[in-house]
Amino acid sequence: MKIISDPQEIQALCRGLRFSGVTTALVPTMGFLHDGHKSLLLAAKNRAEKVILSIFVNPTQFGPGEDLEAYPRDFNRDVKIAEEVGVDIVFAPKPEAMYGPDHATWVEAPELAKELCGASRPTHFRGVCTVVLKLFNLCMPTFALFGEKDWQQLAIIKAMTRDLNLPVQVEGCPIVREPDGLALSSRNSYLTQSERQQAPHIFKGLKLVQKLARNGEHDPRQLKKAVEEYWQEHLPLGEIDYLEFVNPVKIERVDAVQGETLVAVAMRLGKARLIDNLLIRS
Ligand code: PAJ
Repeated sequence: MKIISDPQEIQALCRGLRFSGVTTALVPTMGFLHDGHKSLLLAAKNRAEKVILSIFVNPTQFGPGEDLEAYPRDFNRDVKIAEEVGVDIVFAPKPEAMYGPDHATWVEAPELAKELCGASRPTHFRGVCTVVLKLFNLCMPTFALFGEKDWQQLAIIKAMTRDLNLPVQVEGCPIVREPDGLALSSRNSYLTQSERQQAPHIFKGLKLVQKLARNGEHDPRQLKKAVEEYWQEHLPLGEIDYLEFVNPVKIERVDAVQGETLVAVAMRLGKARLIDNLLIRS
């Protein structure tokens, strides 16, 4: 397994692979790998001849006062996991190597960033799009894999790839959960024991929406009220950042939860801000 930190070096290597016809699959991450990341790496192995894992805590997608400094990091452990899974190339650049002092160019998809995390983290997706485009240009992958856990991020990256004619096939992978339903996240490491005990109710609240919608309740306000009450009882330590019902492609609010609707939540639980979502068909 090659470990590379220099952007020019990875670009030269990946250019060679691309032009000699070797298929590659890129899995971009911010490290502190868990089984959700692992599932993407395994899917990547099935997709392409070579797997590239990027590990980069991208400073431009964190807003002021967010957890950039505190974000969990364990590079040695990540390298071990990458080796176990059979990653071919790890790309782990330093922030200074990715963003020069004169960095002046940004990519964004504002139409898709009006709701959900785009509303509560106004510069977040600009940072995500910019770094992902840079990673695409450096690694020149045939495929790039992203988790549905960050549904809005996946929708935005798919749109960016389509709109800018990027020669990459972007694919989504299902959310990996703990046995009790909590979606895996590097930020779960912030949770205290009591917060961790309540955390599975985030997903249980989304399942409640699914059940009520299937039983004929299509009004987003009624559904929201029911879940808020459920969380008040079972998740008193949590504070809702947003709970929204959106079209899964346009990421626009829906008036009725009917057909395919994405129910998405961001919840503050102690030091963590956790997100989750569920695609409902009713
Ligand atoms: P990070 O949060 O490290 O996530 C890396 C990838 O793993 C993303 O595509 C994310 O959706 C996926 N992922 C995280 N938890 C998952 C889970 N429980 N099940 C399935 N997939 C999961 O997302 C980012 O990093 C960054 O924004 C990045 C795309 C790397 C750009 O900096």
